[in-house]
Amino acid sequence: MWTGIIEKYRAHLPVLDTTPIVSLCEGNTPLISIDNLAKKMGIPARWYVKYEGLNPTGSFKDRGMTMAITKAKEAGSKIVMCASTGNTSAAAAAYAAKAGMGCCVIIPDGKIALGKLAQAMMHGALVLQISGNFDDALNLVRDITDEYPIALVNSVNPYRIEGQKTGSFEIVDALGDAPDFHFIPVGNAGNITAYWKGYSEYKTLGKSQRLPRMMGYQASGAAPIVLGYPVLNPETIATAIRIGNPASWKGAVNARDDSGGHIDTVTDEEMTVSQQALAACDGVFCEPASAAAVAGVLKWHKEHPFQEGQTIVSVLTGHGLKDPNRAIEISSSPITVLGTKEGVMAALMPLLS
Ligand code: F0G
Repeated sequence: MWTGIIEKYRAHLPVLDTTPIVSLCEGNTPLISIDNLAKKMGIPARWYVKYEGLNPTGSFKDRGMTMAITKAKEAGSKIVMCASTGNTSAAAAAYAAKAGMGCCVIIPDGKIALGKLAQAMMHGALVLQISGNFDDALNLVRDITDEYPIALVNSVNPYRIEGQKTGSFEIVDALGDAPDFHFIPVGNAGNITAYWKGYSEYKTLGKSQRLPRMMGYQASGAAPIVLGYPVLNPETIATAIRIGNPASWKGAVNARDDSGGHIDTVTDEEMTVSQQALAACDGVFCEPASAAAVAGVLKWHKEHPFQEGQTIVSVLTGHGLKDPNRAIEISSSPITVLGTKEGVMAALMPLLS
């Protein structure tokens, strides 16, 4: 029986036999071959997506949150707090509920996807929205948790990174080695930092023969690392990565430079097209920010064509159902027909011919 990433990778994580593990059986997500999209785009490499949307709260945040909440519980914390563009708040609320702890989340007013808001509220968190953006919310949370006995569970908490590095362990365990390329969306930059840490540790232990090139993608309207300076008013339809001053900026740059990788932008349009193409070609539905890891592959391939025999992994950080409004906005509406056989057949005919 699968009992979560801490039990599975206990030897690689800072836990003791006495640590009270708080888990929702996160991790063990599939690597799905997206051969249809690869073929359509003329990419001869083996291309997989790591479908992190299949975690208990529908995003990769659960890997980090099981660790952060476990360690907070071990330390005797009663309340946890985070800033969030949505997914962290959903995960914090769920794991705090499981641990019997209080949870307060601070989110940018009107800028988080519907599914994520629903989750934080259903799991009983105190949900506070502010008129600022994620960066403002994180500053507030750092300030408050410095002063009060409240555990900070954003990815500036090192246990979050420890949990999230297990994503790379699973990829190497599944493929038998690291991929050649690892594509990942970058927001607050914790995840790219964590994946690089995981790959590096596994290589040191001899569990893989090579390291991947770390390929990070920011939204063009929220691309501080690419620009080289903070963005005061980040804007993108990919609200999950609408971040102008990433906390793990340095970690992302190190991952890029140490791996011979690349950090670049993708436009809202490119993310949208990729999200739709992946859903329509290979049956995998991810949220807009996650599609940056697919759009990045397509962008890179144009200038540096992938070769046969290479392996690419794109991390799909969150499930498509997180942001149903956006999905409906970019899709054509259902066709209204008469509820009769004739009515249905009239609409169906073009498909049959
Ligand atoms: N993809 C999704 C779906 C996310 O929710 C996030 C971050 C990222 C990518 C970027 O990961 O921040 O580690 O570089 N979401 C955070 C949140 C900020 O509050 O849920 P990162």
